[in-house]
Amino acid sequence: MKKIINYLGFALLTALLFVGCKKENQSEKAQSTQMENIQVSDYGVTAKGDSIKKYTLTNKNGMKVEVINFGGIITSLTAPDKDGKYEDVVLGFTKPEGYFNGNPYYFGALIGRFGNRIANAKFILDGKTYDIDKNDGPNSLHGGKEGFHTKIWTIEPIGNAEAPSLKLTYVSNDGEEGYPGKLTTTVVYTLTKDNALEIAYEATTDKTTVVNLTQHSYFNLSGKFTQPITDHELQLDADQFLPVNGTLIPTGERRNVAGTPFDFKTPKLIGKDINSDDEQVKLGKGFDHNWILNGTGLRKIATVYHSGTGRVMEVSTDQPGVQFYSGNFLDGKFDTKTGGKNEHRTGFCLETQHFPDSPNETSFPTVVLKPGEKFQSKTIYKFSVKK
Ligand code: GLA
Repeated sequence: MKKIINYLGFALLTALLFVGCKKENQSEKAQSTQMENIQVSDYGVTAKGDSIKKYTLTNKNGMKVEVINFGGIITSLTAPDKDGKYEDVVLGFTKPEGYFNGNPYYFGALIGRFGNRIANAKFILDGKTYDIDKNDGPNSLHGGKEGFHTKIWTIEPIGNAEAPSLKLTYVSNDGEEGYPGKLTTTVVYTLTKDNALEIAYEATTDKTTVVNLTQHSYFNLSGKFTQPITDHELQLDADQFLPVNGTLIPTGERRNVAGTPFDFKTPKLIGKDINSDDEQVKLGKGFDHNWILNGTGLRKIATVYHSGTGRVMEVSTDQPGVQFYSGNFLDGKFDTKTGGKNEHRTGFCLETQHFPDSPNETSFPTVVLKPGEKFQSKTIYKFSVKK
């Protein structure tokens, strides 16, 4: 009997050792594969002397996403066309200095603390008035001049063999750009095996504050950055949008899109009504408005289709709004990555977010974040082909 027990004990020990070794091998394998699907290289040096790195994520299909630790900027993102050809479909500069010296269009950047505009660059929170950076006429835009798009983020490569991920972290000190509270933000970019870029945001604070995080990539699914995006077809799952005043601040009205140029409920060419005489289109110099998305929770909210290349981009988010911006301020001042200049309306953005000026508009969903709470949000840009 004693012999049998000894034998069983020995067998159990051997089995445990075997499983343990196998686990170790697997995690070693995961690490080395992770290195294979995330490449790190030197990108450039800022005027302040910071060395910036570029992280290239690649999936099994050959799709690539390039991210730098300056502004968490996506400098390149490839997507297949109907012939299976992967091309870069996001606007960007040809030289690092374009991003480092102001990035006037916010190309590819992470936006915070507050995406979009805050009227008169001020808001009242818990009875106290906060004056924030005024960088857009009378208003504050995209977190101020030194917003998150100008910050150096810590990047940690994570993920697995199938889906490389980067975890970006930035700690914004109490009072930065006028906002209260020390805000810790993490953003995880994941390139999935089905050609989607998932963006997961989290933020915590040590004092009551406001937060509205987004991503400011400009897309041109033609892969030719001098071609206007007016030939792209857009569908937006939104019955209403937010009319704006002359400085692009929502008036508080929620207007039905039906019968207006803002109706994208069924697929419509972006160019169809972009030069309409509609007062709101004129104020936006095209489309530069927030649509109130139908439904709640993570759901598909937009589909963009470019018939020339067959490229399709589907956007899903858990946010209440999306700023559809048709690149009206692109002004031909910079070279594009495919030659020529970045002319008017050669890129569009679908910035998922809370409504603009929410801190001042009590009828809008709250953007207040308190100590002990965690802001969490997810947006997915998925690329495919329609033949
Ligand atoms: C946002 C705004 C636009 C413009 C761009 C940056 O998308 O809605 O009005 O300021 O950023 O050029």
